[in-house]
Amino acid sequence: MIAIDGPAASGKSTTARRVAQELGFLHLDTGAMYRAFTLKVLRAGKDPGDSESVGALVGVTQIELHRANDALLVLLDGEDVTLAVRGEDVTRAVSTVSSLRCVREAMVREQRRAAGQSDVVAEGRDIGTVVFPDADLKFFMIAGIDARARRRQAELMNRGIRTDLDALAGKIRERDWLDSTRAESPLRKAADAIEIDTSSMTVDEQVALVTGIVRERLGRKGKP
Ligand code: DC
Repeated sequence: MIAIDGPAASGKSTTARRVAQELGFLHLDTGAMYRAFTLKVLRAGKDPGDSESVGALVGVTQIELHRANDALLVLLDGEDVTLAVRGEDVTRAVSTVSSLRCVREAMVREQRRAAGQSDVVAEGRDIGTVVFPDADLKFFMIAGIDARARRRQAELMNRGIRTDLDALAGKIRERDWLDSTRAESPLRKAADAIEIDTSSMTVDEQVALVTGIVRERLGRKGKP
């Protein structure tokens, strides 16, 4: 079990996906799960901060992550919502929904079940601190706000969406603040996590660094 935590656009998703591929591990993108559930809340017309009505939805929701070739598919009650969970509306509401205890409890239960007995690279905000505190290796990825805003801008541009850099930086800062100041499982570096600043690193460099550390600490196959 390898845990990768960090704030939005710190490079953890791309790195986790590629490291999992290289090691032949399962990639568990826990942010995608919170996003899928947030999509359901929005579609149902619920107030994202209303724990009672949002809580009622948790028990009747099924979220699955499926690997299809090199991509990770996100299924919400059987529907492929891989693209929809990256939408602006979901990104705006996801921190509020994921701050609710009832949501976190259900997601963490599902994350532990999904990881099962497999070798996993799990990424999110509370993986090394709460979900898998006994992970074999923990990483905490960070990056400067400029680098993160530029990455998000490029990602959106790839999807044909033009955005203002300052506005993006503002939104990332706001999500950082919400994710790290909430009462339930806030974004925090585990005491035993290895911090990696990706501000001036390419994706290939991040993957090589993490994979190298995993192999050095856990052996060639990345297993303890
Ligand atoms: O990694 P991401 O940007 O896709 O995550 C979306 C949101 O989900 C993030 O802003 C906070 C929440 N999240 C969480 O609370 N705990 C996790 N383990 C993963 C994500």
